Amino acid sequence: MTSLAERLRAGAYQAYAYAYPHKTAYRDLPEPVDLASLWAGEDRSQLFAYLHVPFCTYRCGFCNLFALGRPADDLVEAYTTQLERQIANVGRALGEHRIVRFAIGGGTPSYLAPAQLARLFNAAQRHLRVDVARVPAGIEVSPETATRERLAICRDAGIDRVSMGVQSFVDAELASLVRPAQRDEVVRAIGDIRALGFPTLNLDLIYGIPGQSAASLVNSLDSALAFAPEELYLYPLYVRAKTGLGRIEERRGTATDTRMTLYETARDTLLDAGYTQVSMRMFRAPHAPAQDGPAYCCQNDGMVGMGCGARSYTRRLHYSDHYGVARASVAQILREYVDAPADSFAYARYGYALDAGEERRRYVIQSLLTWPGLDERAYAARFGSAAFDDLPQLAELVALDLARRDDATLALTASGMAHADTIGPWLVSPVVQARMDTYAAR
Ligand SMILES: C[S@@+](CC[C@H](N)C(=O)[O-])C[C@H]1O[C@@H](n2cnc3c(N)ncnc32)[C@H](O)[C@@H]1O
Ligand code: SF4
Repeated sequence: MTSLAERLRAGAYQAYAYAYPHKTAYRDLPEPVDLASLWAGEDRSQLFAYLHVPFCTYRCGFCNLFALGRPADDLVEAYTTQLERQIANVGRALGEHRIVRFAIGGGTPSYLAPAQLARLFNAAQRHLRVDVARVPAGIEVSPETATRERLAICRDAGIDRVSMGVQSFVDAELASLVRPAQRDEVVRAIGDIRALGFPTLNLDLIYGIPGQSAASLVNSLDSALAFAPEELYLYPLYVRAKTGLGRIEERRGTATDTRMTLYETARDTLLDAGYTQVSMRMFRAPHAPAQDGPAYCCQNDGMVGMGCGARSYTRRLHYSDHYGVARASVAQILREYVDAPADSFAYARYGYALDAGEERRRYVIQSLLTWPGLDERAYAARFGSAAFDDLPQLAELVALDLARRDDATLALTASGMAHADTIGPWLVSPVVQARMDTYAAR
């Protein structure tokens, strides 16, 4: 395994470790896994239900999420119907369970027609018994689709968090990202979100955009802060294979990497404005609602993903549909999803089976990269062993002052947080890494 010092020399932006193992490590499973038996062996008292809607008004140049821009209306309708069927099937497979967190993401779920959105909320309520009004429940929206009518349906259903992609308030930077300029729509949508009383507004911004300077980034941050969002996500730009920007970069070559300087500027601006840093990307405002209720704990609990492109996590198996980025691949995978017989949703066919070592590694990665860090006692209670015995490489973090160990909690320092996209990939096991390296992007 490469030392952390060596990894750091390879650059601060190696990969976003938002899930472990990464979806590019998933493969066809040796045989289909029956979901009812799989979930029967899990703690189903604190589950996260996630619905994926892989449609957007346009396909942004930077985006490698599983999403299709400008889909045909009949595909969107067929997808909604199929997703309702899948929700019913998964609800049956889960049996007795309790959902403590709910989200509908994408893509852009607000691309759906108001009536289609309402159908999905009803299906979640009916088949999964999600009490949307009582559990933390979020939706991802783009500015132009976040219409008053759709937002009202979300608010009536009980959605309490709206997350909107803005990326930049500077038109020239949106052009560099191959995303339409829409400041007026952003302002209008935020006005509607506020008028309807959603407790949490999150805005996404990107840094490291070609042509972006520290001054223009601060300008975007100031524009965002004027709306007092309860949360703000700051994403470093990654130019990935099969995306519009990926193709442009192949022709023009790689631009100078300005991300670390911009990150430090943005982080300090948000800290000065009173925001708390939760992870490398996430900042929370002092006026954000308290996180109460039965807490979903991502490193411990199950995730039930529905819709094409959604991932599901049990302790020992992570599964999803196939994954693609290029338009033709996404379209083909969506076709297969829409045409699948309803009973096919009773099985998992593609994913990653975690052994005991991977399960522990996942717990460490998920906890360490988020404030307040890795609770060594909670780890020992869960696995019956010590995190530093299982992963002795963690000592390197302390030696390099990227993390501190106080009262049995291993927490990233400011420098560690800035290097989360190096630390995450460094913690990937050789087996998972080998799978990721042999994944053929499509
Ligand atoms: C599901 S979208 C947000 C909602 C909506 N689809 C929109 O774009 O307005 C997820 C977010 O991921 C971020 N993102 C996606 N791909 C990225 C990339 N290659 N580099 C940096 N950020 C990226 C963007 O900030 C984007 O807003
Ligand atoms: S950034 Fe959002 S709107 Fe743009 S393609 Fe990705 S999911 Fe769709």
